[in-house]
Amino acid sequence: MYRTHTCGELRIRDVGNKVKLAGWVQRIRDLGAMTFIDLRDRYGITQLVVDEKSTKEIFEQIEKLGREYVIQATGIVQERSNKNRNIVTGEVEVFLNDLNVLSPSILPPFTIQDDTDGGDEIRMKYRYLDLRREAVRKNLELRAKMAHATRVYLNGQNFIETETPVLIKSTPEGARDFVVPSRMNQGEFYALPQSPQTFKQLLMIAGFDRYYQIVKCFRDEDLRADRQPEFTQIDCEMSFVEQKDVLKTFEGLTRFLFKEVMDLDIDEFPLMPYSEAIENYGSDKPDTRFEMLIQDLSETVKGNNFIVFDSAEYIGAICAKGCSDYSRKQLDELTNWVKRPQIGAKGLVYVKYNHDGSFKSSVDKFYSQEDLKKWAEVLDAQPGDLMLLLSGNKKHMQTALGELRFEMGTRLELRNKNIFNPLWVVDFPLLEWNEESQRYHAMHHPFTSPKQEDMQLLEIDPGNVRANAYDLVINGVEIGGGSVRIFNKELQSTMFDKLGFTREEAENQFGFLMSAFQYGAPPHAGIAFGFDRLVSLFAGLNSIRDVIAFPKNNAGRDVMIDSPSTIADEQLDELNLKIKLKDQ
Ligand code: AMO
Repeated sequence: MYRTHTCGELRIRDVGNKVKLAGWVQRIRDLGAMTFIDLRDRYGITQLVVDEKSTKEIFEQIEKLGREYVIQATGIVQERSNKNRNIVTGEVEVFLNDLNVLSPSILPPFTIQDDTDGGDEIRMKYRYLDLRREAVRKNLELRAKMAHATRVYLNGQNFIETETPVLIKSTPEGARDFVVPSRMNQGEFYALPQSPQTFKQLLMIAGFDRYYQIVKCFRDEDLRADRQPEFTQIDCEMSFVEQKDVLKTFEGLTRFLFKEVMDLDIDEFPLMPYSEAIENYGSDKPDTRFEMLIQDLSETVKGNNFIVFDSAEYIGAICAKGCSDYSRKQLDELTNWVKRPQIGAKGLVYVKYNHDGSFKSSVDKFYSQEDLKKWAEVLDAQPGDLMLLLSGNKKHMQTALGELRFEMGTRLELRNKNIFNPLWVVDFPLLEWNEESQRYHAMHHPFTSPKQEDMQLLEIDPGNVRANAYDLVINGVEIGGGSVRIFNKELQSTMFDKLGFTREEAENQFGFLMSAFQYGAPPHAGIAFGFDRLVSLFAGLNSIRDVIAFPKNNAGRDVMIDSPSTIADEQLDELNLKIKLKDQ
């Protein structure tokens, strides 16, 4: 037997017992007559001790130990004179009788404790050592717990967990595909699924009624804190349902997870139309933990010979509570912030509503105190507040104000990680005009059904057709998205048409689905949650990398296994790829 107890198990009740522990040496403190060793495993840390009563042999053995050695320690549990209230085993220690080195360790490249000295890059290169740290491992434990609870809930609701293939054909969902060359079918490629979208729809046609899968998806897109090239979805589909049924089931799942994992009771999720989210929050993923709503000042501010405003399509503003004391330097910095290419505003107009009731603005030349008071009324600003205005193209400035609102919310610490504000954003536009390709793209995906009442607009005004699509947003993060699907061949065909597919392209890429629609397709709808995002939200983390055991860096590399990498000439030969690569 390697051990009688784990390193997180011993308590005062065990005093006097002979025990055997196994784990990693976290720290050795040599105090001359006494030596302490912190022994660590997944479950905790237990202090081992030797003192003047110990044998010479055991002191000699300890001298050979180093950080991260794997040892087996046998001894007697005793009460500690100097108790450590910060750890559960802190009342006891093990007086060492015997020590056995199971596996030595070379010096680790960083200290393996919560406040490590290791930088990001080195910790990623030695991710297996990073995962020894409790702070990191506990995120993965949370992930496992959430996956388990998800299965409990969905199994309880009669969903069938079904695996779908990983080597498929591309599904156009906005990102690029990762492709895999086929040796047996030279010149042809599989694509890794961006999601199992078409397969889950086929499962509905197959009569599965309710499908789910906790599934890896792959998208070759630019990476950010909330994006990885391979990530995990809780993917679901249901038959004979409408939008409200899907929302009810997945609101149920979300609330179940909050209760099971965090012991939190969450109120019913409000519904917000997409247009309202954009108007008020400048984003289709509004963070509703704080107000600071965007107001349209276009009507209020025009006509005072301030050419910037007079010539603008839209002037919008937010009110930052309690910020009228911002210094010149702070305002300049904020102006530079909105002028960065990512935000793209031309400038920032500010109005300080001073504590004495007067106004001081960057446009005092054009606007009287009376004028500025009107702005304050629209924005519901009080003395002590700061109004921030952006002007220009409506769509662009709404987004920019949304970013500015987010930034001010962060600076003012209004985005409390312990508050969770979920909501459903609904009634998304079906199509989105893409300037580059000069055609419409599906805002969600091409299988999404238009809203029944907007159907007649499909021919005359496609840009204004709303979709039967919905997103789950929590604290400004898009946790999930889904839609009611098209389930007849003709409408699907019209949709491909609107998206600029030729009949042939549509047939070539999605003939299998359209053909399946002819064999009795039930009405169906579904959704997918970004599982990594959900876990990182629960864990209060900003990056999904922290909840993935072996993540990729921002360049899409796994620096531990050094991937992607070149492959051998023979492999290229076998795949008949060599010539193409050489041609470049
Ligand atoms: P969608 O593309 O909206 O929908 O994806 C669903 C959810 O997956 C998460 N997500 C990501 N998470 C991490 N890294 C990424 N690169 C990444 N991309 C997406 C998001 C997102 O809300 N098949 C449809 C769902 C459906 O219609 O049923 C789909 O994939 O949290």
